[in-house]
Amino acid sequence: MVGGKQRLVVVSNRLPATLKKDGDEWTVQGGAGGLVTALAPVLKNRGGVWIGWSGASDPSIDVDSLLADFSAKAGYELYTVPLTKEEVDGYYFGFSNEIIWPLFHDLQTRCRFHPRYWRMYLDVNFKFAEMVARSTTPDDYIWIQDYHLMHQAFFLKSMGVKRQTGFFLHIPFPPPDIFMKLPWRWKVIQALTEFDLVGFHTTQDRDNFAECLRRFQPDTEIEGSGAVVEVRSGNRQFRLGAFPISIDFNQFNGLAENEDVARKAFNIREALRHRKIILGVDRLDYTKGIPERIRSIQTLFRMFPDLRGRVNFVQIAVPSREEVDEYKELRTEIEQLVGRVNGEFSFPGWVPVHYHYKSFPHDELVAYYSAADIALVTPLRDGMNLVAKEYCAANVSQDGVLVLSEFAGAAAQLQEDAYLVNPYDMEGIAKDLNRAIHRDKAERKLHMTNLRDQIRKNNIYWWVDSFLQAGISKRLGDFPEM
Ligand code: UDP
Ligand code: G6P
Repeated sequence: MVGGKQRLVVVSNRLPATLKKDGDEWTVQGGAGGLVTALAPVLKNRGGVWIGWSGASDPSIDVDSLLADFSAKAGYELYTVPLTKEEVDGYYFGFSNEIIWPLFHDLQTRCRFHPRYWRMYLDVNFKFAEMVARSTTPDDYIWIQDYHLMHQAFFLKSMGVKRQTGFFLHIPFPPPDIFMKLPWRWKVIQALTEFDLVGFHTTQDRDNFAECLRRFQPDTEIEGSGAVVEVRSGNRQFRLGAFPISIDFNQFNGLAENEDVARKAFNIREALRHRKIILGVDRLDYTKGIPERIRSIQTLFRMFPDLRGRVNFVQIAVPSREEVDEYKELRTEIEQLVGRVNGEFSFPGWVPVHYHYKSFPHDELVAYYSAADIALVTPLRDGMNLVAKEYCAANVSQDGVLVLSEFAGAAAQLQEDAYLVNPYDMEGIAKDLNRAIHRDKAERKLHMTNLRDQIRKNNIYWWVDSFLQAGISKRLGDFPEM
């Protein structure tokens, strides 16, 4: 429930369970990425409805029976939006992942602005809106997630369906000089103004959006100066807010304290002969700066030869969007780089880089977090980056160090107690890694305690409450300052 009898309806491209083909068999897997990690415990906790695509586009399979087990255990209702292969190609791989994803991460040279993608994006958004209209009532609160579904409020209204709607963008919102390259820029901005509340991770993202809006609608007026502001623009009145997403702190902290997980962490350390462990964890995505990171590890061993044989770098790369050529090429590039660095420095008994191309179950992932002395989180651009927060929540020994890209949304909250680095500056990262390796215990503890306190307090439940309060309260002053 949101407030009174209001039901919470989450709508995202991907459901928390994804169907994947393994040989001839369909298997059910947990969805990859931060959106699912963040929202799954929320719906489990509150109940409600989750509407999304199953990940499959094969009309011959019975999606509902494949997801039946997952649905029964979920504690909330699941509705799937069936998509054809053509729709997935144009709307998901095309418009969402070849246009909006690179553009909003400041990587506009990777965009392919095919008009066909735009048309399919609109068709699929209409299809999602029809499902939302059919499966909800005027009392429900409709919370749309992410860049795949920016036209939901627009289409619901065009169908004459009245619902209270909020939208949260899980990726950055770019500044006007980048956003203006989008051929359908005004239509996207206009569609977003149809929501009652539009949320971003940071005030920077929110201000970028407001600046773009002003370019098209010079009469735009913004009232308020806190995390949430009231906007009047043309004939629209709505809210904009900055809500830094987070994690279920207790879940990660609790897992790290679990005996089995602690044993797994010990085994990882022992397998690496208790050398210092630097850890990277990402979906294999070009925004995450993995090649740049491996080069910074190479620079570390070149600049500080005394660290050879004393430090290991472990990179977990979770397969993602594997059908896209750019992701395939990135995988090859990373594997070649790992080979090159290991070829340059290895000696009998020590291989510097350990690379895993797979998804780990939560307990094993947390064991890696607990075992690592340093988390090296260096995206070129990232909406938030939950890995940075998960590492701290799992660091129950409170002696780990976070090295964090200044271009991750998480930097706005964690900058005081992390080493902030420029992901393109290999020598700078190498120097900070060397400092992190030699940081004394008391200092490590001081900073990690601060990081953990911040994440414990501003956890995922705080994030949901902040958003929903801003979404449903009548007056600006009705919700807490952030
Ligand atoms: N993750 C996972 N299995 C793994 C490695 C990572 O489920 O083997 C999860 C991780 O716990 C985190 C998410 O993937 O919650 C990545 O989220 P993040 O915000 O860092 O980046 P995104 O993938 O959303 O861009
Ligand atoms: C990011 C996006 C999510 C997306 C996730 C995984 O976190 O913000 O919307 O679900 O990546 O990507 P995928 O394309 O596999 O859904």
